[in-house]
Amino acid sequence: MNAAPALEVKRLSIKFGDFTAVDDVSFAVNQGEIFGFLGANGAGKTTTIRMLCGLLTPTSGSALVGGLGFGDGGLGIKKIVGYMSQKFTLYNDLTVGENLDFAAGLRKLAPAFAKKRRHELFELIGFNKPLSSKVSQLPGGIKQELALAAAMLHDPEIIFLDEPTSGVAPASRARFWGLIRRITGLGKTVIVTTHYMDEAEQCGRIALMRTGRLIALGSPEELKRSAFPGPMAELDFKGAEPKPFISALEKAAGLLELSPHGMRWHAAFADKAAMDAALAGLPPSAAAALIQPSLEDVFIRLVEGAER
Ligand SMILES: Nc1ncnc2c1ncn2[C@@H]1O[C@H](COP(=O)(O)OP(=O)(O)O)[C@@H](O)[C@H]1O
Ligand SMILES: [Mg+2]
Repeated sequence: MNAAPALEVKRLSIKFGDFTAVDDVSFAVNQGEIFGFLGANGAGKTTTIRMLCGLLTPTSGSALVGGLGFGDGGLGIKKIVGYMSQKFTLYNDLTVGENLDFAAGLRKLAPAFAKKRRHELFELIGFNKPLSSKVSQLPGGIKQELALAAAMLHDPEIIFLDEPTSGVAPASRARFWGLIRRITGLGKTVIVTTHYMDEAEQCGRIALMRTGRLIALGSPEELKRSAFPGPMAELDFKGAEPKPFISALEKAAGLLELSPHGMRWHAAFADKAAMDAALAGLPPSAAAALIQPSLEDVFIRLVEGAER
């Protein structure tokens, strides 16, 4: 087994005029990993991915993608990566077969190879509709699976998926993630962006981006532990008015984060002593339960918290 990383990114930056869209980003991705990019709209996820696919030239910094750099203007990289862009990339008015022929043509794949890959990929995604189906007539989840197949036609080792499940129904999202796991199970590397926290939980590691910068990197568990070194309580006011207590709690010593979650609140503290002191005045009808922070809590603390 080759232990070289699939991706090695060093101090990568890109400017559009005066605006720095990606700012000094460094990380490495191992072969076979599911590596997630998480961040608000405009954080720089798509721009980072487009540089690593050889589609945009960085202003500074370097990267090795499957061992290849940017020296040739990204030509080599483009050949070895698969890229499923955030915009839907198939033609709705063409059939499934026509779309895959078109994708094979763009890649200049030999017809016999393209045909073999088509069979392998149909097997992988479990596609059982006729090749003559118009893409416009297929359900959203299946369209996304076909778009993935088209992006993998040339059998890339590294596959970039930019919000592949956005706007897809929950059951189809789960199916798509099953597919991602099967692909990495084959030893391929998947880099994926998502807005959905349940999907981010399924990544081996996550890079959290904010305004062009990489602000945290680690497994979901590592991110939770480092964002919340102390305990977290979920407060349920059970119909009592939360406002007076919440206003007081906001000023409590050792409070790390306080955020509403539906009818409840999550309060994170530096340590147990700070929590006990802060929650001593909780209204009698209210209840506090110790909970484990979710990735959504991490996101609120590191991304939204920094914006407040
Ligand atoms: N070609 C471009 N010219 C100018 N600004 C751009 C260009 N591409 C992206 N941006 C800006 O860079 C920032 C990051 O965009 P993007 O990478 O698409 O973010 P994300 O994918 O995280 O939502 C945004 O503010 C966006 O408007
Ligand atoms: Mg994007």
